[in-house]
Amino acid sequence: MMDWTDTWCRQFHRLLTRRALLYTEMVHANAVIHGDRDRLLGFAAVEHPIALQLGGSDPATLAQAARIAADRGFDEINLNVGCPSDRVQSGAFGACLMAQPALVAECIGEMQSAVDVPVTVKHRIGIDDQDSERDLHVFVGAVAAAGCQTFVVHARKAWLQGLSPKDNRDVPPLDYARVYRLKAEFPELSIVLNGGLDDVAAARSHLTYVDGVMFGRLAYHQPWTLAAVDRLYFGADCDPRRDEVLAGVLALTETMRRDGVPLARLTRHILGLFHGEPGARQWRRILTEGAHHADAGPELVERAARACLPRAA
Ligand SMILES: Cc1cc2nc3c(=O)[nH]c(=O)nc-3n(C[C@H](O)[C@H](O)[C@H](O)COP(=O)(O)O)c2cc1C
Repeated sequence: MMDWTDTWCRQFHRLLTRRALLYTEMVHANAVIHGDRDRLLGFAAVEHPIALQLGGSDPATLAQAARIAADRGFDEINLNVGCPSDRVQSGAFGACLMAQPALVAECIGEMQSAVDVPVTVKHRIGIDDQDSERDLHVFVGAVAAAGCQTFVVHARKAWLQGLSPKDNRDVPPLDYARVYRLKAEFPELSIVLNGGLDDVAAARSHLTYVDGVMFGRLAYHQPWTLAAVDRLYFGADCDPRRDEVLAGVLALTETMRRDGVPLARLTRHILGLFHGEPGARQWRRILTEGAHHADAGPELVERAARACLPRAA
């Protein structure tokens, strides 16, 4: 998620789930080719398995960017066909590509030829008036024929004119049944359902119909919910304990201090760690007030943890 799931966020989320696939923010293929690759593509070994999400619509450029990313060790390359922002539309990529299944198929074909790791697509159930079930099946069928096996489906359409990106994540109604029917139509494909999932345990019920689920805002705002993912979805015996996670957060802050990375790069991602728990407010307040100081480091996180969880810190 843009501006949210950077490497510090992902390293933090890895303390909560070892098994879930983590996604980067969308990075445009041109940026991968011409930009600061360490900044755009840098990740820590603990983040595996990790997928890079690319934006773009030129097959050769996407293929080149995919190759660069695969050489850096990404486990999957995902193409964004779901973002409706004006900036993305004016660049002719993101959700507007749902109107061009043949072009997306060409992009996927070239990307998949360039790398050995899976190339996947994240898309909507439709855009504008092109939102019939048949339109969706034509899109998925064309892209699957080009070699894509996994489709992450945000279960609402996008309105490309008139709705902000934020409204496009909330206003068009969710239609999970349409995603179920997509899986029924293409049983050989891996279909991952996304959109509006607000309970990690309850979301398991979708697995009766589809192959996976993706959590977006829930994972970010209520990260502790991720602590149950390995048990609920991957058969782990138990969940990580809060004190273990806090120890991991402190270790991460030590690494940041050693590498000269401001603590504020991490604190915004961990603000929700105690969401709904007693002490959550102190945790957020101490971190928010203290993180902008130049010398803020592990001590601040320790202090926030002590204020919030006296016995665990
Ligand atoms: C701040 C923000 C940034 C996002 N950036 C991306 C992005 O870069 N690529 C993408 O495919 N989806 C992006 N999304 C959409 C989410 O991945 C997800 O599809 C959407 O929020 C619906 O799922 P949720 O209800 O679980 O959050 C973003 C969402 C938010 C809130």
